[in-house]
Amino acid sequence: MKIQNSRFIISAVKRDQYPEDLLPEIAMAGRSNVGKSSLINMLINRKGLAKTSSTPGKTQTINFYDLDGKMRLVDLPGYGYARVSKDKKSGWGKIIESYLVDRPNLMEVFLLVDLRHDPSEDDRLMYEWIRTFGYKGIVIATKADKIKNSQLQIRKKALREKLGMDPEDVLLITSADSRKGKYDVWDFINSLLEQ
Ligand code: GTP
Ligand code: MG
Repeated sequence: MKIQNSRFIISAVKRDQYPEDLLPEIAMAGRSNVGKSSLINMLINRKGLAKTSSTPGKTQTINFYDLDGKMRLVDLPGYGYARVSKDKKSGWGKIIESYLVDRPNLMEVFLLVDLRHDPSEDDRLMYEWIRTFGYKGIVIATKADKIKNSQLQIRKKALREKLGMDPEDVLLITSADSRKGKYDVWDFINSLLEQ
């Protein structure tokens, strides 16, 4: 899909603030600072549309971005900063759970992990959770520009093992800096939309 027009729609903390139409949505989940907002900007070629920051916890609400009136990318608040596994009453749990558990528009959840590091306990819980809710859980390993090429296969293998991924489970590699993986992610989104 060639995006002509992307725009921010709304920043929501509860269900009645979500867009009401039936456009398909794809959500970005992952630890604070992993690069969810940066990935959205890379995908839509808009450097500052989704706000990013080197300080974790930048995105604290669910932000909806419309792409040509055809679909939406959904930027979720990061965890790690307020742990997933802890009290569900914490901001993160409430905001994200109410979106993920009952959102008919939601076609797929992308789980972003940092290619350099082993997944955290929260990442593993999140992956399990996404799959329990019936999504494939596409894993996107970010910040590929920060590792040497010689490390790539080693890191991919480690991530697959630590997340308990099967060979058919999808792992994509991206860098918001070098734009690596942009077309791989788009190919995947297009295949989802065609289903
Ligand atoms: P929260 O909103 O806090 O949950 O974080 P986020 O996951 O949205 O992360 P964000 O996109 O704000 O990026 C966090 C920091 O990592 C920023 O300083 C980005 O510039 C940087 N960053 C994101 N993606 C990449 C990448 O692929 N490569 C490099 N080198 N830096 C990146
Ligand atoms: Mg963010």
